[in-house]
Amino acid sequence: MYILGVDFGSKYLKTALCVRDPQSDEISVVKTLKMPHRAAKQGTITDLVKAKEVFGMMLEKIKLEFSEAIDQYVISVSGENISSYSGTSTIPLWKQENEDRRVRITRTHVNDVLKAAKMTAYNKDDKVELHSVPQEFQIDDQPPTSNPVDMSGVKLKSSVYVIQTDKAHRENIGSILEGLGIKNYRTVFSPLATTETVIDDEDKEAGIIVISLGDQTTELTVYLNGILRMAKIIPFGSNNITKDLKILLKTDFSTANKIKKNNATAFSADADPEKMIEVENTSSQKSEFSEEFIAKITEARLKEIYDFVTKEIYKGSYQRMIHSPVIITGPGSTLNGAEKLFSDMNNSKTTRGKAMGIKYGKEELAEDFFTAAGLVKYAVVNDIFADHDDDGDGTGIMSRIKQFVADLF
Ligand SMILES: Nc1ncnc2c1ncn2[C@@H]1O[C@H](COP(=O)(O)OP(=O)(O)OP(=O)(O)O)[C@@H](O)[C@H]1O
Ligand SMILES: [Mg+2]
Repeated sequence: MYILGVDFGSKYLKTALCVRDPQSDEISVVKTLKMPHRAAKQGTITDLVKAKEVFGMMLEKIKLEFSEAIDQYVISVSGENISSYSGTSTIPLWKQENEDRRVRITRTHVNDVLKAAKMTAYNKDDKVELHSVPQEFQIDDQPPTSNPVDMSGVKLKSSVYVIQTDKAHRENIGSILEGLGIKNYRTVFSPLATTETVIDDEDKEAGIIVISLGDQTTELTVYLNGILRMAKIIPFGSNNITKDLKILLKTDFSTANKIKKNNATAFSADADPEKMIEVENTSSQKSEFSEEFIAKITEARLKEIYDFVTKEIYKGSYQRMIHSPVIITGPGSTLNGAEKLFSDMNNSKTTRGKAMGIKYGKEELAEDFFTAAGLVKYAVVNDIFADHDDDGDGTGIMSRIKQFVADLF
């Protein structure tokens, strides 16, 4: 079965054509493609005509090199208009006629309590749900569990992490695919996809923070005790560093971008104050700037982005977790010193993300395609294409619980 992961980034459209082994569910990337576009800003599609155009071109290119049919499409959703909240609710289980008052929990109870938890902050007028991920359940005063089915109690409490976006935003993304006759597609919030590429179940269980630096966005995901606690988009990225370099080095964008990739470091203490870098300026003359000066500009902006990230972590009270390993990933993290700066600012262990559970022939999958391949991995791991007849609300909650139970055997 062929699945196409479509990462509609702020600057690039990146796709990973993957094959899923029906027995092992293992994912192998067959082909990766990347195209620049001008259809989005800070992760949100702002020009639907251009978006359809570039996606059409991408599909044509894939068709030229790959003759088999693509069965499923998974497209990323990103941008500032995505909001998330954790809803909690408790429902009574007991009935008056039941003397013991304790009731055995069924799937209907689970659905009811999750729905109630979701409704605590659901805004169904102009928002649409992208994901609702069950966090945990608690029966009376028993310890929390991820699957309460068949246990007995008087009341059932649940919490659920809901990610939602504007209806118009979700419709725009759908119409990019539907405009080309594609019906079999799902949408996945971009940070969840990127994170799925670089972590495994053990990381989720142990607790992990993943920070992914893109062009105009930075993604933040927090897992703790196997539970998704936070998934956020911060509307700043590596592009902000290029813009600063362009202004302060008085050069054009493309030269500034090259300097960022080849001569800049985000950890200015490692830069040489004596080493001079030649920069072509806007009037085609050359000026010289010290490596340290370039590093200071780069460091200041990345520090600001990291500050936004840590503020979010503090808002969720996950600051203690900054001291366990933090994964820094995404194309923007290939900047020299990006990892060291975060580590220095927060006194934390920081590592670079590596693709896990995704094969790419004998090669290592490049950071550029972590989101695209992660979209496919997320879809497979969470079985998001399955029919959710038993869910009633199409959220796939029961399938996820079933998957959790299956994992135990
Ligand atoms: N070697 C490198 N050193 C520094 N920065 C790099 C390097 N390689 C790529 N980048 C930067 O990474 C950014 C591209 O990130 P990415 O591909 O995630 O963009 P996008 O997906 O289009 O945007 P976003 O993820 O913000 O929606 C660019 O700003 C680019 O300059
Ligand atoms: Mg990106």
